[in-house]
Amino acid sequence: MLPGKIFWKPLIQKMVTGHWRQFRMVPEEPLFPDSLRRVGLYFHVPFCKNLCPFCPYNRVEYDDTLFAQYETALYAEMDLYLPYLKECEFVSLYIGGGTPTVNLPGLTRILERFQNTFSLSCDICIELHPRDMDSRSLEELRQAGVTMISVGVESANDRILQNIGRNHDRKTALDALRRAVATGFTSVNADLMFALPGQSLRDWEDDVNSVIAEGVDQLSTYPLFSFPYSDLGRSQKISRVKRPGGRHIRSMLEITDSLSALHGYHRCAVWSWLKPSAKKFSSITRHHYIGFGPSAASMTGKNFYVNTFDVSAYAAALPEKRPVALSMPVDVRLEMAYWLYWRVYELKIRDDEFAALFGEGNSVDARFSSLLRPLQLAGMLKKEQGGYRITRSGAYWIHRLQNEYRGACKNEAWPQEVSL
Ligand SMILES: C[S@@+](CC[C@H](N)C(=O)[O-])C[C@H]1O[C@@H](n2cnc3c(N)ncnc32)[C@H](O)[C@@H]1O
Ligand code: SF4
Repeated sequence: MLPGKIFWKPLIQKMVTGHWRQFRMVPEEPLFPDSLRRVGLYFHVPFCKNLCPFCPYNRVEYDDTLFAQYETALYAEMDLYLPYLKECEFVSLYIGGGTPTVNLPGLTRILERFQNTFSLSCDICIELHPRDMDSRSLEELRQAGVTMISVGVESANDRILQNIGRNHDRKTALDALRRAVATGFTSVNADLMFALPGQSLRDWEDDVNSVIAEGVDQLSTYPLFSFPYSDLGRSQKISRVKRPGGRHIRSMLEITDSLSALHGYHRCAVWSWLKPSAKKFSSITRHHYIGFGPSAASMTGKNFYVNTFDVSAYAAALPEKRPVALSMPVDVRLEMAYWLYWRVYELKIRDDEFAALFGEGNSVDARFSSLLRPLQLAGMLKKEQGGYRITRSGAYWIHRLQNEYRGACKNEAWPQEVSL
């Protein structure tokens, strides 16, 4: 039998992108975006006090000197972009990490600079660590304009938190959620991880119930993934601990679905459940966005590119040079595929949204029939009024691409090329 890599990968690629060519990201500086209208902004804070061994994100141990260099470079990067983003409407500012609050005075300075530079009046969304969430810090964030927060609870079980190397306990996490809900943000999301070593169905039921009991607007649950480039993936120590099997994982998802429904939450994305009338917290589903900081990605509709992951190399490059490590051109068909990928993630494909973005003459059916029909036949997709609803999908292109460039960029500040 042909291995999936040789047979299925090019076939799915052809159905999604319309061509057989491999994706190639190369170390070329793309043009500055000059025709963006609606755009999301992102900045990455690549520092943490405790480096959790399971974490695949780009982060280094916090250091005062490196943070100061990072902050100066971030301002320089904003100044470089400003002339090209003057006409834009900004739909959101998302702050991810690492741990964005690792230096709170530094973060509020950066936030103020973003608001002033780009005259922001949009939602400001941020990822928080439970240990940084005393009432004063939360109020400071709210005063600084933060409207939506996402808290890394991960588990409400002390034994499991210890197993995975987190530096907080159940009480710290749940108290933090309670304070966050009381502070009055537009939306509070709690992140939980499942399929963790040593986690039983009963443990998981308690995790979901405990988080819902604090009154969060949204619950996001992620099965533990072990990217090859995370410390966990590298050491593979996790393989010595018994991890739950496929059937167990499916049961955990069923538990999440039924407990969420019981409390009036509905599923709003592959891994998320939302209270009715609450506003969805989401990091990655904007159509066009510009990312600032080490490892931040940007999608302009003409190019997809990613900054160097190395914090010192990022700081040293600016202001003389843009810190872009790898880029690739994006044609309209690929842009459509990218849009489709995130709609699949959000479980809904709307014909009217597609036509509004790509022109009235374009329809999802006409562009992607060879992809959508087999998915429909396989029961993964359902046609409904005005578009499609996804039951579950294997659309994985951007994730795969992210995996590949993340692997290369983690090893080298300025990698030569990545192809997929
Ligand atoms: C950048 S972190 C959250 C913010 C903050 N640094 C913290 O840890 O509380 C984003 C989220 O990704 C999820 N995550 C991290 N590593 C993961 C892994 N290996 N598998 C599944 N989810 C993971 C966790 O739920 C985590 O809260
Ligand atoms: S999970 Fe959060 S705190 Fe832990 S290393 Fe990753 S970004 Fe840092």
